[in-house]
Parts: sequence; C-alpha cells; structure tokens
Amino acid sequence: MLAGGADGFVRRYDLRTRSEKAPAAFPETDDLPPDLRDHPGARVFAACRACHALGAGEGPRAGPSLHGVFGRRIATAPDYAYSDALKRLDIVWTSETVSRLFEVGPSIMTPGTKMPEQRILDPADRAALVGFLEKATR
Ligand code: HEC
Repeated sequence: MLAGGADGFVRRYDLRTRSEKAPAAFPETDDLPPDLRDHPGARVFAACRACHALGAGEGPRAGPSLHGVFGRRIATAPDYAYSDALKRLDIVWTSETVSRLFEVGPSIMTPGTKMPEQRILDPADRAALVGFLEKATR
C-alpha cells in the first residue's frame, strides 16, 4: 500500500506485517520521456507519481491523470470520479495555481478534497515541480 504523507514522502507499507518500509523504491524516472528524467522537478514529482499519471491516454490512478492540466478547469479530467468538494470549486490550473496548491496545502486551497494534505515548502522545489509538469503534461 502507498500513502502520501504531509512531509511529501510517499511511504510503502507492508500490509502483512504492518511495518513501514523505507520510502518507496520506485524506479524514480524510468517511465518518463528521456528529456525529462534529469529535470529538477522529476525528483519533486516523485511525491505525486503513485497517484497521478502524466501521459496522454494514461488512466487515472488514485488521483486523476494530470495530462493537459494547465489551462483546464479544476475537476474536469475525463474518467475520474472527483469529490463534490472539488467539483464545486472555480479554479483554472496554471503554473501559479498549481504552485499555490502546494504552498498553502490542498486542505486550504481545495477544502474537502480527497487528495491527502501535503505541502512543498521550498519555493525552488515548487518552481521545479511546475516547470516539470508544464513539460510532462503536454
Ligand atoms: C495519495 C494520492 C495523491 C498524491 C500523493 C497526490 N495527489 Fe493530487 N490528487 C489526488 C486525488 C485523489 C485528487 C482528486 C481530489 C478530489 O477529487 O477531491 C487529486 C487532485 C489533484 C489535482 C487537481 C486535478 C484536477 O483535475 O483538477 C492536482 C493539480 C494534483 N492533484 C496535483 C498533485 C501533485 C502535483 C502532487 C505531488 C506534489 C499530488 N497531486 C500528490 C491524490 C493524490
């Protein structure tokens, strides 16, 4: 089982022994396009990847695919059952609004969301994440 924690790390739990293992050992960047594997934001996106796909035609995971997210109104990815809380909000995703989502945290910007609370405190990390997403979600 995978869980995203408030500290930004995705943890891996062993459901049989109920013990926490080391931070999930995903092949960090293997499934990214080659030109994005070394992008500084790829490391930040490691905290998102368990729940969000990026590529065209990739289905939802625990969260909606982020493909085409920029310029799109909140809660409008096809094939995803958003919470009513998200559907009621009037936000368009831009580099500013995505950055703000993780500056203040989803519970502040999107109250009632089912995305786990998490913040990215370092402005450089947020900028790297957004720069990465702008390329990876096109
Ligand atoms: C444990 C799973 C999980 C993690 C980790 C996670 N998310 Fe989410 N995310 C969700 C879920 C679930 C939703 C939909 C929330 C709802 O419907 O209330 C969501 C929604 C979103 C949305 C709004 C999408 C839309 O179509 O309106 C964005 C943007 C987003 N997440 C970005 C991220 C980024 C960037 C990260 C990493 C910093 C991240 N998420 C980490 C589960 C997660």
